[in-house]
Amino acid sequence: SQAKAYRAALLHCLADPRDVGIEQSHEYFEDGLLVVEDGRVARVGHAAELLPTLAAGTEVIEYPDALITPGFIDTHIHYPQVGVIGSYGTQLLDWLETYTFPNEGRFSDMAHAREQAELFLGELLRNGTTTALVFGTVHKQSVDAFFEACEKRNLRMIAGKVLMDRNAPEFLTDTAESGYADSRELIERWHGKGRLHYAVTPRFAPTSTPEQLTLAGKLFAEFPDLYMHTHISENKQEVEWVKELFPERKGYLDVYDHHGLIGPRSVFAHGVHLCDEECRRLGETGSAVSFCPTSNLFLGSGLFDLAKVEGFGVRVGLGTDVGGGTSFSQLASLNEAYKVLQLQGQKLDAFKALYLATLGGARALYLDDRIGNLQPGKEADFVVLDYKATPLIDYRLSQATTLQEKLFALMILGDDRAVKETYAAGVSVHRKG
Ligand code: GUN
Ligand code: FE
Repeated sequence: SQAKAYRAALLHCLADPRDVGIEQSHEYFEDGLLVVEDGRVARVGHAAELLPTLAAGTEVIEYPDALITPGFIDTHIHYPQVGVIGSYGTQLLDWLETYTFPNEGRFSDMAHAREQAELFLGELLRNGTTTALVFGTVHKQSVDAFFEACEKRNLRMIAGKVLMDRNAPEFLTDTAESGYADSRELIERWHGKGRLHYAVTPRFAPTSTPEQLTLAGKLFAEFPDLYMHTHISENKQEVEWVKELFPERKGYLDVYDHHGLIGPRSVFAHGVHLCDEECRRLGETGSAVSFCPTSNLFLGSGLFDLAKVEGFGVRVGLGTDVGGGTSFSQLASLNEAYKVLQLQGQKLDAFKALYLATLGGARALYLDDRIGNLQPGKEADFVVLDYKATPLIDYRLSQATTLQEKLFALMILGDDRAVKETYAAGVSVHRKG
């Protein structure tokens, strides 16, 4: 089909700054051009070099005072929790009982699920997030509603039905067998359809019996390229509870390990209280952890030790964890990530930050051959960030002398207001204003 070109400043990551140093970690074109054809990146480079090579009549869309980056990747979020963001006064286990479980109960109603899926995807795209790893509810129709809404917009998304057969209200529980059968049905219906992937989704160890975890592990091994998505070591009381429920296991991660739930495409949200041995095991198995700073602060869960977890070679992505998290914006997540690391004597420079929100997330999800940066052949999921989003952002960025300073200030001050336009597979899926 007809190519289209987008002209703006352009920045994307090529590697983890931790592995190659800041200079080699990214590619930047002050006056850049992104050429998109058939939903994929055809070419990327300096406008002056590429413009003369375009076929006659190619449309060139210009964005002055803007920065094109890859779409953001959210490695942990709950679509049925939009209704509980900003719920007052509790930490994890009380928060689940008081706010979250009652709200998730409403998703037995397909009409409600459809409405919420639309609201949720609208918010993700308004915030520049083009791929997310998403929790549904225990109801299989919650996942149908979500995937239907994603399919309409041709988004690369991963989701699954929650498995939960104990320690939850009756209206939200399945059984080991029904959870297995319902998940299987959803996998057959959705996994690999368009740009969609299925994730086997045990909520967390306390809400599944060993029988359910055994069947989850069996399912995870039965289909190629499935994901496994759960929570781990978010809150100290939760960690103690897991020890009581599974006294025969070495620790929290060992519960998942024992049931065949770790390895490539396994993503564990939080990991705030992991021990060294658990980090080592996550690293050697190619598992990933989702760092969810706004949630860890809001729920008072603790401070994620990025240096330690990465030091064991674990893949780390960034997550919002809405509704425990307080914003859909990955810029807002990075702002809070910076502060979480500051409190531990660690730094988060702007390039590492961009890496976590884009290519690092893609690597955590084993999707870096398709998304995460704008190299030719990648799917054209990108965002246009507005350097003049607000008077403050405009002024502060005008004071910055280097790209690094400018990007850092944008990530500290920016949120959905800084997202001018969002593209998925080369098609505009959100435009501000
Ligand atoms: N642990 C188990 N369920 C949840 C949830 O819904 N949100 C968060 N943040 N942690 C959990
Ligand atoms: Fe969560």
